[in-house]
Amino acid sequence: MMTKFHLGWFMNFIPPEWDTDDSSPDVAAWANGDFYVDMARSMERAGFDLIMIEDTVMVADAYGGTMEGSLKHCQFAPKHDPLPLAVKLAAKTSRLGVVATLSTSFYPPYLLARACSTVDSIAGGRFGWNIVSSAEDRAAQNFGMDALPAHDERYNVAQEYFDVVNQLWDSWERDAVVMDRETHTYADFAKVHTIDFEGKYFKSRGPLNTIPSPQHRPAFLQAGASPKGRQFAAGAADAIVASMNGLAAMKEYRDDVRARAAAAGRDPDDIKLLFTAGPVIAPTKAEAEAKLERILGHPSYVEKQLVGIASNTEIDFSRFDLDEPLPRELTTNGEQSSLQRFMEGDDSGTAYTLRELTMLRARRGLDLVGTPQEVARKMADVMEEVGGDGFLITKPGWNLSRSYITDICDGLIPELQRLGVVRTQYGKSTLRETLREF
Ligand SMILES: Cc1cc2nc3c(=O)[nH]c(=O)nc-3n(C[C@H](O)[C@H](O)[C@H](O)COP(=O)(O)O)c2cc1C
Repeated sequence: MMTKFHLGWFMNFIPPEWDTDDSSPDVAAWANGDFYVDMARSMERAGFDLIMIEDTVMVADAYGGTMEGSLKHCQFAPKHDPLPLAVKLAAKTSRLGVVATLSTSFYPPYLLARACSTVDSIAGGRFGWNIVSSAEDRAAQNFGMDALPAHDERYNVAQEYFDVVNQLWDSWERDAVVMDRETHTYADFAKVHTIDFEGKYFKSRGPLNTIPSPQHRPAFLQAGASPKGRQFAAGAADAIVASMNGLAAMKEYRDDVRARAAAAGRDPDDIKLLFTAGPVIAPTKAEAEAKLERILGHPSYVEKQLVGIASNTEIDFSRFDLDEPLPRELTTNGEQSSLQRFMEGDDSGTAYTLRELTMLRARRGLDLVGTPQEVARKMADVMEEVGGDGFLITKPGWNLSRSYITDICDGLIPELQRLGVVRTQYGKSTLRETLREF
């Protein structure tokens, strides 16, 4: 019996592929969200646990000190607000979990708790919050700050933030809504409480002014990879999303987070580890390799990747020679572990050139390029080796196309289903329960 695993998809509310032969006829209308509705429906047909919408809140200019790269390649800019898209996707699906990214550095806790509660009610208990603390000073500058706090301090803030919002969700007892026609009482005021929270960073009186949502609290996703980030995720997350360079790193990460969770008094099986993977599928291995080469060979590919990694780390990668090894001593106050992973490229210890590193990024530490049968088998083998708990699909080169979505949902997933390693139907109604189903 092979390990059964979970599937999610990590995407952005950005323009899909718009300048290739795979561009859809309605690509100019992407901002109405319909492209992503089609995607979510395909995913639901395939039995995915969740779609996860990424977010950052700025137009980056770290690459070459100008916004040109971000806007020319639409690399993370434009990027529309994930929360309204989450509502639309939830309204147009019935079983798929819908996850939006919201930053603890910028959203006031009360507004976030209220928004998550409202969306979870609209979504019938299928909403999740991807908890991030953001990584860019450029984003902070849109919210009245000059710079973000230091990396570890952001996690201290996030921890307290997490406490406040949980208290707010608990400010209504589960049975506070009585709707008693005899006494004409909608909610029992004795079951709705102020929280009077006063911490180091936040102060909130409460109670929340929303009724308890089906999950009471949204499902929690997190991506901490640094020691501080792992600790936070182990204590808080229902699912952890992670990018790792290869099997050994995946296994180490999963074992570490599970040990931290157990030490924090949690059942490690209540946390699902989803590892990013960018499968490329075609009828033959050679065609699949050619497909990946077409993505990597796009005239904008290399610069676009560099604009992206510059944006998350606020390091100007235009300073380095593309065909020289990248200096390994770079540091960032942004996404430290993302930078580390990018600089390593894979787990071989080779000193790759900057150009090579952008190419390796597309493979995301795993070589999932081939026929549906080959790739499905490899994914199943990886999960056997790592122990669980699933994959988070991300398209190499980011911007999506309907043909890529079809390759995955109608090519790869049926093969995984035939192997018996992923779900063929939904058994539970809320996202948290879906994640815990196996
Ligand atoms: C799959 C994945 C998705 C992420 N999504 C976001 C996001 O939408 N917004 C964001 O600001 N950071 C995002 N991050 C970055 C994480 O929040 C975190 O900063 C990163 O994993 C590095 O971990 P560390 O801060 O503990 O070093 C994501 C990371 C991963 C691996």
